[in-house]
Amino acid sequence: MGISKSISEQMERSSWIRRMFEIGIQMRKERGAENVFDFSLGNPDVEPPAPVIAALRRVVAEDRPASHGYMPNAGFPDVRATIARNLAGRTGLPFTGDDVLMTTGAAGAINVVLKALLDPGDEVIVLTPYFPEYRFYIENHGGRIVDVETDERFQPDLDRIARAITPRTKALILNSPNNPTGVVYDEQIFRGLDDLVREPMLVISDEPYRPLIFDGARHPEVLCLVQRSVLAWSWSKAMAIAGERIGYLAIPPHLAEAGPLRNACTFANRILGYINASAIWQRLVGQVPNETIDVGFYQAKRDLLCDALCAMGYRAPRSQGSFYVFPKTPIPDDQAFIRFLQAEGILAVPGCGFGRGGYMRLSLTIPTDTIRRSLPGFERALRRALDGQLVPPDASR
Ligand SMILES: Cc1ncc(COP(=O)(O)O)c(C=O)c1O
Repeated sequence: MGISKSISEQMERSSWIRRMFEIGIQMRKERGAENVFDFSLGNPDVEPPAPVIAALRRVVAEDRPASHGYMPNAGFPDVRATIARNLAGRTGLPFTGDDVLMTTGAAGAINVVLKALLDPGDEVIVLTPYFPEYRFYIENHGGRIVDVETDERFQPDLDRIARAITPRTKALILNSPNNPTGVVYDEQIFRGLDDLVREPMLVISDEPYRPLIFDGARHPEVLCLVQRSVLAWSWSKAMAIAGERIGYLAIPPHLAEAGPLRNACTFANRILGYINASAIWQRLVGQVPNETIDVGFYQAKRDLLCDALCAMGYRAPRSQGSFYVFPKTPIPDDQAFIRFLQAEGILAVPGCGFGRGGYMRLSLTIPTDTIRRSLPGFERALRRALDGQLVPPDASR
């Protein structure tokens, strides 16, 4: 087989996602789809807001000449100018359209900036537990991932981060609201990071869940608090359009290397094969950049699930944002516990898949009724695990 060793190894390491997918298929066959409670996938289950669909119809009907061709690799200048005005209004920083690069979601933005920054062997710090794709994005560009544990509240630990920084450290990826923990980082953490991050290191603030914040809280403005930060933004979750692949990278003009970095990222967008972000979706976000789904939809499901789990005896604090909850597993072995859940038809991702054992990630992107119907299964799994019953066989074998 001509498949590269590195991609084969990476696929092996990403096996949790594949395993859950395979187990889900098998369980649906055996039990019937209505008896499977799949909390493993983070795919928005709400329709895009009506103004987004209306804007899509408008954009398609506009019938502008040459609207489907190539464009500058950074995106349509008028759309970038609109986004920049928005960013400037929000942050008070003097963004112009030149500082914004339209990308294929946050994933595209992160890959582009890593491609622009990394030489082979350069290091990128990520905070555990973390979105597992970061490892592959970093390795895509020859970088080396450096894991740093967060504290017991899943907040970044500034001392540990300081100790992990070396002359090879090029970036630190931050993600708040966080996947998988649902935690929103405290404002003083960003202030502390501002003291730590010095040239050539940059913070990449990955914020696809920024509008998904609960209980009326506000998210700190990372671009204002951390001088040496860039923003990877996406409308995947904000507008529930994850399949459309639209986002941007914002590079603040006060960075000493802003000009060369912009050029390098624009070139990277081209040579990574993205070329440019989708023309139709750029036009759309240029018209309704601030439309977001009703976050109350996920908040109500968070309350239902966390409150029910806590009443049973789980440690399941309410998440502050994103669409995940990250309860402690009742027994320390998270992989064993998710097998107790699988025996009840419940699919959850073990914390070890995100670099932190002893927890599990449950996604709120499933119907409320499915959450309600899953609750007796969560209770039985908890009792069986605490009674010391034999761990059920692995459903994927
Ligand atoms: C933390 C985090 N970053 C980035 C992404 C990629 O998002 P996008 O669809 O914007 O590329 C995801 C997707 O789930 C995510 O959870």
